[in-house]
Amino acid sequence: MYATTGYSYSNGNHQPQNSEGKRMETSHRERVGKRGRRARDSHGLRVGVHSQRQQQSSPPPCTDFDVAYFNSYAHVGIHEEMIKDRVRTETYKSAIMQHQRFIEGKVVMDVGCGTGILSIFCAQAGAKRVYAVDASSIAVQANEVVKANNLVDKVIVLHGRVEDIEIDEEVDVIISEWMGYMLLYESMLGSVITARDRWLKRGGLILPSNATLYMAPITNPDRYSYSIDFWRNVYGIDMSAMMPLAKQCAFEEPCVETITGENVLTWPHVVKHVDCYTVQIHELESVTAKYKFQSMMRAPLHGFAFWFDVEFIGPIMSPSNNPYTSSPIGSSHDNTADGIQRRKRSNSNEALVLSTAPEDPPTHWQQTMVYFYDPIELEQDQIIEGSLTLSQSKENPRFMNIHLQYTCAGRSFVKESVMR
Ligand SMILES: C[S@@+](CC[C@H](N)C(=O)[O-])C[C@H]1O[C@@H](n2cnc3c(N)ncnc32)[C@H](O)[C@@H]1O
Repeated sequence: MYATTGYSYSNGNHQPQNSEGKRMETSHRERVGKRGRRARDSHGLRVGVHSQRQQQSSPPPCTDFDVAYFNSYAHVGIHEEMIKDRVRTETYKSAIMQHQRFIEGKVVMDVGCGTGILSIFCAQAGAKRVYAVDASSIAVQANEVVKANNLVDKVIVLHGRVEDIEIDEEVDVIISEWMGYMLLYESMLGSVITARDRWLKRGGLILPSNATLYMAPITNPDRYSYSIDFWRNVYGIDMSAMMPLAKQCAFEEPCVETITGENVLTWPHVVKHVDCYTVQIHELESVTAKYKFQSMMRAPLHGFAFWFDVEFIGPIMSPSNNPYTSSPIGSSHDNTADGIQRRKRSNSNEALVLSTAPEDPPTHWQQTMVYFYDPIELEQDQIIEGSLTLSQSKENPRFMNIHLQYTCAGRSFVKESVMR
């Protein structure tokens, strides 16, 4: 899926060239589907560190996988897809406007600015300065977009990893669109945490401020029939010998598809809730959740669906363990379906939510399905229980290993898959 890069990296330093072959001193989804260099702003001015907190020990190395990842964001198609996702882009725009009082006259960092769209929304909301950071060469276009909109005095495009760039001030706001399929695929949240810990002022704002990954058992007879039952009778020929291979090929890996609320058999379960103000990088390396569902109907169980939502909540000034901010409103959470219902209700008037749930308007994230090789005939009220572990692949931390254990009608199963 990844293309090879045309950029040269040395000791993690990224020194891209623009189309005329000149060194760019400005720093930079198909969803996938860098050290210590002093950055210069878009005017060629060098900026440096002067805060103790900004000094980090040693940024993680930029691996070949990272290079390929950033290269995948150099293509226009992935940005076009994201920007054309109106649910996504308009929710971000609304969130920026809703938090204008925190942005006006303030310093913002856009972690992974892509084409610069969110940075420009922030400038339009009155930000004093926006650091638009991206390690992909799409930063070259972002810089052109900024110039064309006469915003060079406000939006500073930095081409480099947030782990490597340096700026000489703290920021009031961090904005980022970091969410991957199943929320954690791509592992970009770690870079937002790095930016938070390096530059966010105490009491600063992070948009989005929290995220929740959900799972629920699903039935999808049409999908099963289309890929598997199809082989029973092909132009009058019994080709059911193809079925084991068809199951392997169709269901070995997670599938990104759109389902509806009608496919979902129970209330969802919270796999992971992430508070962007407090989450630590190590928490994201492996996430384990135990679940127990009670089917609300009689139907063939084909697997589990995963989706997420993110909330945009302003900081409130109350004491907290977190050095960078206070507890955001509505961040209390538990993993029960009851907890979800409570939280959703409590948010109805308070927080803007970007949801990728089956019952909500579709987004380019769709939903992610982990299908079983064979369906299980569920009775109404039957219990489905087990555990799930999502872990960053050792081979490539941007890939995600999925270990799913499930027990139903006295039989236990394990499904291992990799999202790559
Ligand atoms: C999902 S895109 C969002 C682009 C843009 N903010 C938007 O909303 O249209 C994420 C962007 O973050 C960039 N990115 C990911 N990790 C990064 C890092 N550690 N440092 C700098 N840029 C990063 C990618 O190159 C990509 O362009």
